[in-house]
Amino acid sequence: MCGIIGYVGDKDAVPILMNGIRRLEYRGYDSWGLAIIQGEIKLMKNTGKISESGSNSFGLKGNVGIAHTRWATHGGVTRENAHPHTSCGKEIAIVHNGIIENYQEMKKSLLAEGHKFTSQTDSEVIAHLLEKFYNKFKDIKKTLLATVKRIKGNFAFLAIFQDEPDLILGARKDSPLVIGVRKNELFFASDVLSFVEYTDKVIFLDNLEAVMAKKDSLKIFDFNGREVRKGITQVAWEAYDVSKKEFTHYTLKEIHEQSSTIKNSLYQDPIKLTKFCKSIKVAKKLFITASGTSFHAGLLARHLFSKISKVYCEAILASEFSQVMDWVDKDTVILAISQSGETADILHAVREAKEKGAKILSIVNVMSSTLDRESDLTLYLNCGPEIGVAATKSFTAQLALIYLLALTTVDEVVNINKLKRLNDYVEFILEQKNKIMNIAEKYKDSSDFYFIGRSVHHPIALEGALKLKELSYIHAEGMAAGELKHGTLALIDERTPVVVLNPKDQTYHETLSNALEMKARGAKIIGISNLNNEIYDDLILLPQIEELLYPIIEVIPLQMLAYYMAVNRGADVDRPRNLAKSVTVK
Ligand code: F6R
Repeated sequence: MCGIIGYVGDKDAVPILMNGIRRLEYRGYDSWGLAIIQGEIKLMKNTGKISESGSNSFGLKGNVGIAHTRWATHGGVTRENAHPHTSCGKEIAIVHNGIIENYQEMKKSLLAEGHKFTSQTDSEVIAHLLEKFYNKFKDIKKTLLATVKRIKGNFAFLAIFQDEPDLILGARKDSPLVIGVRKNELFFASDVLSFVEYTDKVIFLDNLEAVMAKKDSLKIFDFNGREVRKGITQVAWEAYDVSKKEFTHYTLKEIHEQSSTIKNSLYQDPIKLTKFCKSIKVAKKLFITASGTSFHAGLLARHLFSKISKVYCEAILASEFSQVMDWVDKDTVILAISQSGETADILHAVREAKEKGAKILSIVNVMSSTLDRESDLTLYLNCGPEIGVAATKSFTAQLALIYLLALTTVDEVVNINKLKRLNDYVEFILEQKNKIMNIAEKYKDSSDFYFIGRSVHHPIALEGALKLKELSYIHAEGMAAGELKHGTLALIDERTPVVVLNPKDQTYHETLSNALEMKARGAKIIGISNLNNEIYDDLILLPQIEELLYPIIEVIPLQMLAYYMAVNRGADVDRPRNLAKSVTVK
């Protein structure tokens, strides 16, 4: 995880870097730092969130610099472990995103050669390797190539050298690095969002590529030193609108945006959509893979492809994909679902499957993300940047797009039209804000929550529990409603709130019976339904819609409940503790 940014140009780099890492905070926010060339290398680092640091300059000024926002992997959250890291004499500074897997052996041999380390991080070895090879070759390119050949794992790093004060260099393997281009200025970062206010012209570095740049010269080469010519992509500014508008949190803004984003996800290029559906329909073996919230969308996809498209498929957590890897071959289609397109577990699964000849279809939000670029065919969620760490609008966009795929495979035009009008009902849920706030107030001191649902509602129960856990830090479990009696019922008593996903469809009566079983043990039942029932202690009313489509709408009250619970408990809603939005480590 972590976010990195670098700048070389004719402006003062410090405010540009500070703004950049603020925008990258979704990638990690436990500590931060920057390095600037001001005659010598000057450093500023701190623990805590960058957004909480008052200053934008710290008395530093320079035209070349690098910065970092951290999500700790190796070494605790301390000032020493915050990036940038430097060589022994502080003549070289680096920022790194990823994990250096062989850092222990590298560190051991560098220590034996007399290098002095000041942090517990894996990243610091990069600074010392650059120092070692620069002392040997006195040539930046040779130094960079020798360094990238030594390190194993995944990385995107940037470096500056005191002896080469106009230069910035970088390299990537399996972690993203993009370059923003403007006259006499270059920006280097983990994503476009961090510099899009300065330029919309972008070069996407590919895997195993390195870069050396001055403000007016840019050289890109592969890890064997061969120069690579790259095209410039113009990205859409508006796709990177990150203002919070009138909302107190990004998460709340993104929950509200669902009244348009659900519909936006359905605007797909008809030719691509048809090709995508055909690949699903004819697949001899279809595996869906994803992580976290996106995996919950994957579970619904499995259900809909099986029930509607009549395609047998499996949904496998990306981190567990090795379980089925032996079955992957050239007759296999993988559907990977990811908001960021950068989740390491997913990329790993997809790359291995690709090597075995599988076809890769993906659903992503971030265009030109690694997953997008490594897939055979991608459909976009079109829901704009999601800044809140908890996925909200990207989830409903994934669900809507999955419905569109399933319904298109069988030409269900009537339901497709209903799907396209679904966003009109989001307001119906948002208007129940006061009721949801009251429920959040009533249960804010609960220590455990359960969410239950059958069939298509089961993935939504899982998602409701995940949202509550990550936003409010309350323990929660999502379960198939029929499973409670097989053990978990032992935990239910009069202190336990249970959220029951129960719109009127074929699961209604059985789910109601499960809710009654819990009520009989004292549980407080929060119904999510279009139909009231006396067993509910509280009801969040759903609109009357096509019953098939309830999963997309019924998750919104669960997102709101988690949000208001978190606010009541004083949690940091947009940046929950210990988490990061893009999980770029395995
Ligand atoms: C939960 C959440 C995570 C992500 C997961 C996958 O709110 O955001 O569980 O869903 O890390 O991320 P993507 O979709 O970017 O691959």
